[in-house]
Amino acid sequence: MKITIAHSPDSDDAFMFYGLARGGVATGELEVSHVLTDIETLNRHAQEGRHEVTAISFHAYPHVAERYGKPSQVSVERVMGCGMGGCYSCVIPVKDAGGGQHYVRSCIGGPVFKGAELVWD
Ligand code: FES
Repeated sequence: MKITIAHSPDSDDAFMFYGLARGGVATGELEVSHVLTDIETLNRHAQEGRHEVTAISFHAYPHVAERYGKPSQVSVERVMGCGMGGCYSCVIPVKDAGGGQHYVRSCIGGPVFKGAELVWD
């Protein structure tokens, strides 16, 4: 069986996949081919389901999870002014049921949200 493992050519990915790429890991019947490309391309390929295994960015994960019907959660913790809902320094856009968007205070509605609830673009 052939599979592709896609990752970026940066140093940490090169370190993680060195053993596989150089034949140092027994793969049995599995024939592994590596695809090296930039993270934006990997994110797009993940949305298309192009590779069996791929690296993706944190930003892409909720989109890919939604594509496969898998849940995702995102913590939007950051420096909050008051932490009690009074200063509006922590607003974040979330999707409406009707397809629009509105803002919620992450200190009140979060800080953990379902990935599919957030407006990412
Ligand atoms: S931190 Fe002040 S409203 Fe959320």
